[in-house]
Amino acid sequence: MGKILVTGAAGFIGSHLCQRLVAQGRQVVGLDNFDPFYDPAVKRRNLEQLLTDESFELIEGDIRDAGCVASILARAPVDAIVHLAAKAGVRPSIADPTGYMDVNINGTVVMLEAAKKFNVEKFIFASSSSVYGNTPKVPFAETDNVDYPISPYAATKKAGELICHTYSHLYGLKMTCLRFFTVYGPRQRPDLAIHKFARLIEAGKPIPVYGDGSMRRDFTYIDDIIDGVVAAIDRCAGYEIYNLGESRPVRLDVLIAELEKALGKTAIIDRQPEQPGDVFQTYADVSKAVRCLGYHPKTQFTDGLARFVHWLRNESSYDNGYVTQQLQSMTYGKRDSQSETRDGRTNQTKPAGPRSR
Ligand SMILES: NC(=O)c1ccc[n+]([C@@H]2O[C@H](COP(=O)([O-])OP(=O)(O)OC[C@H]3O[C@@H](n4cnc5c(N)ncnc54)[C@H](O)[C@@H]3O)[C@@H](O)[C@H]2O)c1
Repeated sequence: MGKILVTGAAGFIGSHLCQRLVAQGRQVVGLDNFDPFYDPAVKRRNLEQLLTDESFELIEGDIRDAGCVASILARAPVDAIVHLAAKAGVRPSIADPTGYMDVNINGTVVMLEAAKKFNVEKFIFASSSSVYGNTPKVPFAETDNVDYPISPYAATKKAGELICHTYSHLYGLKMTCLRFFTVYGPRQRPDLAIHKFARLIEAGKPIPVYGDGSMRRDFTYIDDIIDGVVAAIDRCAGYEIYNLGESRPVRLDVLIAELEKALGKTAIIDRQPEQPGDVFQTYADVSKAVRCLGYHPKTQFTDGLARFVHWLRNESSYDNGYVTQQLQSMTYGKRDSQSETRDGRTNQTKPAGPRSR
């Protein structure tokens, strides 16, 4: 059996995937450029355990560097590429659309060209639920129209799916696009709501809540996502798109209440307007993945949250407060804002510098 190349291996999903593949006895090469979107030291820590395993090799490099990618594929046969590397996140993509297009589209084309040239049999592409845009029809099915993305990030993911189809058609590459629905769990990206909120609540700082709390997300536990990715590698054929979600959307205000319970602390709410680019809801119809991949998401939200909080509290012993500081500067604009606890008391918060992304 040849190796599996995982791009974005040092990230949240990538590091979990590499760990699972190595545990299954597979040989894995991870490619990552330790992009500074969040603290690269966090990404290095994600790989600490893996780097002690002989079945795992890390290459520090950029997916846009065709020479670097070719040198990996030239050394030993690779059966499958799982292409997770990307600039992730909806809101930052509005501030940096060209950067997102460059990495997420041009970078994907570099990976596809390399897959073609080196006869890699299978290619798995990390797409996103954001491709569904603000469609009112739920749950979202793979057959729904996704021609109306509402952020540059979402547009790059839709473009990635289209390019994957082109390579599948032209060169017969087996191609699977996986639309992940808000993934959470240990090592979750610090910019994502659960992680961001948990750190701010722990620090006794206000959490920014966009809109009235009725926004819904189909939070999907990392282990369930990894089950789906591994099944997609094993069953990759033709050109297919699958939703990987939990199919149980949770309202933002319910998420906050559950997080308060898991942390044993009360959140201070900093009510903010809805953000451009954010969709109102996500809700996966996973029946195709159930049927074709044997995908069965099984983690109850409260259990997943408890496991995340357990991890976060252990992780805090490594943290010097840098991530929480970063979050604050990402979060607040220059204005003074009124914040409230969930029981309606108000706090005055100081401005914490300009929005950094
Ligand atoms: N986490 C989610 O909820 C979610 C939801 C939908 C889709 N996705 C997609 O899943 C993938 C993984 O997401 P994640 O949450 O693990 O993000 P992440 O930011 O933790 O991981 C992405 C990794 O890619 C690396 N990377 C970025 N640009 C690179 C480049 N030019 N060359 C090489 N490496 C590069 C980063 O350093 C990072 O380690 C992404 O494609 C993301 O768009 C994630």
